[in-house]
Amino acid sequence: MPKGKRSLSKKLAGKPPSVSRSEMIEVVLPNDANLLGNILGGRVMHLIDITGAIAAHRHSNSHVVTASVDYIDFRNPIKVGDLVMLRSEVNRAFHTSIEVGVDVFSENVLTGKRTHTSSAYVTYVAIDQNDKPHPVPPVIPHTPAEKRRYREAGIRRRIRLAHRYGRGLAEEAKRLERRRK
Ligand SMILES: CC(C)(COP(=O)(O)OP(=O)(O)OC[C@H]1O[C@@H](n2cnc3c(N)ncnc32)[C@H](O)[C@@H]1OP(=O)(O)O)[C@@H](O)C(=O)NCCC(=O)NCCS
Repeated sequence: MPKGKRSLSKKLAGKPPSVSRSEMIEVVLPNDANLLGNILGGRVMHLIDITGAIAAHRHSNSHVVTASVDYIDFRNPIKVGDLVMLRSEVNRAFHTSIEVGVDVFSENVLTGKRTHTSSAYVTYVAIDQNDKPHPVPPVIPHTPAEKRRYREAGIRRRIRLAHRYGRGLAEEAKRLERRRK
């Protein structure tokens, strides 16, 4: 990364995660479902990407692209006619990238019962007019939960970048340490 990118990033004013907090709700329609009447996993992934991107936009006030999606599981089915509700929030911003946490819930409209169905961590990169990564404001966590998510985002970053750049975890940790100095 060019030197200027890091120093500019440092000058940007930090923002709390609450600035980026976003929520999206949809009703599950037959077109979104498989033959069992459950929403398709791909549809949920699409909604996760959109809700996560909204949080990244709000944090960075910039265009963003999806760089990676960490592990996603589907713990409970969401049925046609249920509401699917997604909540997103920026956990941590690095130099040009932003980790967003997205939780997915289903809600039965007749009983009001709400069930947590998925969680995902998605990384977005802020992009300038020339499609080049550009610096984003840091995140300033306030609550104990925000501070925990911030800390854990640093650990997840090491793992995903080790995968991305084909390095071992120890090597990746050393590289990040060198960049911080
Ligand atoms: C994401 C993308 C912009 C990264 O570009 P790049 O040339 O590899 O840029 P860099 O190596 O300078 O990395 C830029 C940032 O992306 C991050 N990044 C790159 N790959 C990543 C990955 N797999 N997971 C998480 N972050 C990643 C880097 O850590 C860096 O963040 P930092 O500045 O906060 O440290 C580029 O790969 C891209 O445009 N991908 C396609 C995005 C897209 O179209 N998504 C929609 C689905 S196809």
